[in-house]
Formats: sequence, structure tokens, C-alpha cells
Amino acid sequence: MRRVAVVGVGLTKFGENWDHSFRDLITDAGIHALADANMSGADIDALYGGTMAAGRLIGQEHITALIADFMGLNPIPATRVEAACASGGVALRTGYMAVASGIHDHVVVGGVEKMTDVSSGEVASALGGAGDQEWELFMGATFPSLYALMARRHMHEYGTTEEQMAQVAVKNHYNAARNKYAQYQKEITLETVMKSKVISSPLKVFDCSPITDGAAVAILVPLEQARKYTDTPIEIVASAQASDKLSLHSRESITRLDATIIAAKKAYAQAKVEPKDIDVAEVHDCFTIAELMAIEDLGFCRKGEGGKMTAQGETALNAKISVNTSGGLKGCGHPVGATGVKQIAEIVWQLRGQAGDRQVKGAEVGLTHNVGGSGATCVVNILKRAN
Ligand SMILES: CC(C)(COP(=O)(O)OP(=O)(O)OC[C@H]1O[C@@H](n2cnc3c(N)ncnc32)[C@H](O)[C@@H]1OP(=O)(O)O)[C@@H](O)C(=O)NCCC(=O)NCCS
Repeated sequence: MRRVAVVGVGLTKFGENWDHSFRDLITDAGIHALADANMSGADIDALYGGTMAAGRLIGQEHITALIADFMGLNPIPATRVEAACASGGVALRTGYMAVASGIHDHVVVGGVEKMTDVSSGEVASALGGAGDQEWELFMGATFPSLYALMARRHMHEYGTTEEQMAQVAVKNHYNAARNKYAQYQKEITLETVMKSKVISSPLKVFDCSPITDGAAVAILVPLEQARKYTDTPIEIVASAQASDKLSLHSRESITRLDATIIAAKKAYAQAKVEPKDIDVAEVHDCFTIAELMAIEDLGFCRKGEGGKMTAQGETALNAKISVNTSGGLKGCGHPVGATGVKQIAEIVWQLRGQAGDRQVKGAEVGLTHNVGGSGATCVVNILKRAN
């Protein structure tokens, strides 16, 4: 296996981008990533694109052919990857495997979703298809309600409180306020979260990630060639993926995600690091309870102590471990297919020392955690500054 580095990343601003089409978004992010890598389209050998629901949300299938066309990359192989909200993370891992195996040298990985052109109800229905359509969505269980069930059970088993969940939103909005790409660049208080409209009890609007348009792109090359393109290559030292039962009722426990636990264990072994070595992590906080479960399942604290760790401020910027410095899905926004690649961009900026007001001091090891649906897919990547 060859070692793999990220040499360029690019994002669009996340938000309600009514003046940008799906193809505008991914092309913009792609142009930024190529410029960041000092490359042109002619240097690229293959493209992997993650999108979850372009067919449902904008009526467009065959999206990687469209991306290759609009980015001027024809006739390279262009492959779509779909794994619900983990589509971007799985696309990244697929690109990583293509470079590591020696099949391709210069790979562009993109993630994109255009979600705000249809009503919230249509989005909820499209996203709900990432759970068990027959046994969950058809019965009325959309994603907020599935995560509400997990939250209730976590509260019952571990004494987690609504205030502790709300602290995740307060922290992530604080970080998003320092990120020019974020959908919500404003700080909020605990009271804002606690008094916001109930979506599916105990989850309120400010416990939920929003509906977002956006795109993210990363360029991968073999590490041995990386310095041709950048002075600060960031190595992907581990990339692991696992799956789990699709529906909540089939799982042994709904207060942990086994796919996260398994992918994390493999990633730590591959990278030869432990949870305590991670300086900065982008975790999948599609709902505030999801961040609490993620920091537990990734081993940053003991099971059941995610709420306490968050309320004590240990996951804040430059605290014990800086979690979701981009603002996470909650503050930065969650264009579902793009999120996994955006997480990579944030960690690359952190490890290069380019994160501005939200820079984690001396960050050397970063982790990304991208979940599909209610946890049936999980990808964990670990990145380090290359020496
Ligand atoms: C929470 C949710 C239901 C709110 O949707 P909604 O009630 O239709 O909200 P609207 O679009 O009408 O927005 C109303 C206001 O709330 C704000 N808002 C909407 N969602 C928000 C969120 N998650 N966080 C903070 N503010 C939010 C909007 O910006 C808008 O503010 P404005 O009036 O100042 O412009 C929707 O964001 C949602 O479904 N989120 C979950 C998405 C999801 O399931 N993703 C996949 C996870 S696995």
C-alpha cells in the first residue's frame, strides 16, 4: 500500500444558496481545491463523488458524469458513491483506496448536496429513506424522531440532561461564528436552545442540524509526490469503515453506534494512535445527542459521560480535545453528501495552521467521523501533518 496525502481542499459557503445550482456548487468547490493544490484539471486521473439524494432533491441522477463534464475533467473515470449522510466520507475512503492501491495517482473527491429547493417535508422524506423505509419512515419515524428515541434512552440509562445536549449546540455555534463557510455564523446561549421549538421531544430546533446547500472537494495524491504540489501535505494515516443494522429496533443498544466503535478501533490501530493522542476532531453531530454518543464511542470519554464532558467544557476550542471546530453539522450546516469531505477540509486547515480564529494550538493529529443514517454506516479517518 502507498501512503496517501491530501494536497488541496476547497469548499463553498454552506447555507441556503438559492443563487447557486448543484453544478455551480461542486464546480466552485472543485476550482478552489485545484487552486489550493496548484493543479489543473488535466492533472486529475479519477473522480469519486458523494451525494445522497440528488435524484429526490433536484431530479438529477448520474451526478459524477455531470461533475466531470462541468469541471472539464472528461474522459477520466467518474464514480458516484452513496452511503446516506456518509456519502462524502465513503467517497473519500474510496479515493484513498484508489491512490493507496496504486490504481490512480491524482484523485479528486467531492461531496455535494442541494437541499433547499424543495420543502422541509420533502427533505425529511428523502432523508428518511436512509433509515428502514418499511419499518421506520413508513410508520412516521423521520430522522429527528429516531435520534429523539436515542436521546430519551441515553437520558434514561446515563442521566444525560437536555441542558447537556444543548451545550453541544452552544459550543458548535461558537465555533461556527468563527468560520466564514458556516451556515450560522452567530453565537447562541443555552436559553436559546432550551426555549426553541420542540421538533421531536426531547430534541428542539437548536438540537438539530439544519437543511443546507453546499459542496466540498479534496485532492489526494501518493505521499511521495505530495511536495510537488504543497509545502504542507497532510497524510491520511488511517481510513476505516464499518456497518450496522439499518433499523434501530434490530440493534442490541440504541445508546451507542457499533459501526463507530468498530471503525474507530480499526482506525486507531492503523494509525498507531490512541484517543488521547487526537488534538482535533470533526464528529457527526447531526443532532446534539449524536455528538455525545460520538465522543463516547470514539473513546474520548467513558460511556455515558459525553454529557458531563461537554458541560465541563472539555470539548471546547483549545480545551482537552477540540471537537467540531468548523461548527460541526449543527453550526456549519449539513449538506448531507458534502459533510464527510468538509470534515476533511477542516482537519487539513487545522493541521496546516490555517484555521484562523478557530485554530487549535499545536494541532498535530486530527480525526473525522462521518455517519450514514442513524448509524448503519460509519467512516473514521485519522490525519497527521506529514514530516
Ligand atoms: C429542525 C428542522 C425540522 C427545522 O425545519 P423547519 O421547521 O422547516 O424550519 P424553517 O426552515 O421553517 O426555518 C425557520 C427558522 O429556523 C431556522 N432554523 C431551521 N433549522 C434550524 C436549525 N437546525 N438550527 C438553527 N436554526 C434553524 C431557520 O434559519 C429559520 O430562521 P429565520 O426565520 O430567521 O430565517 C429542519 O432543520 C430539519 O429537518 N433538520 C434535520 C435535518 C436532518 O434530519 N438531517 C439528517 C440528519 S441524519
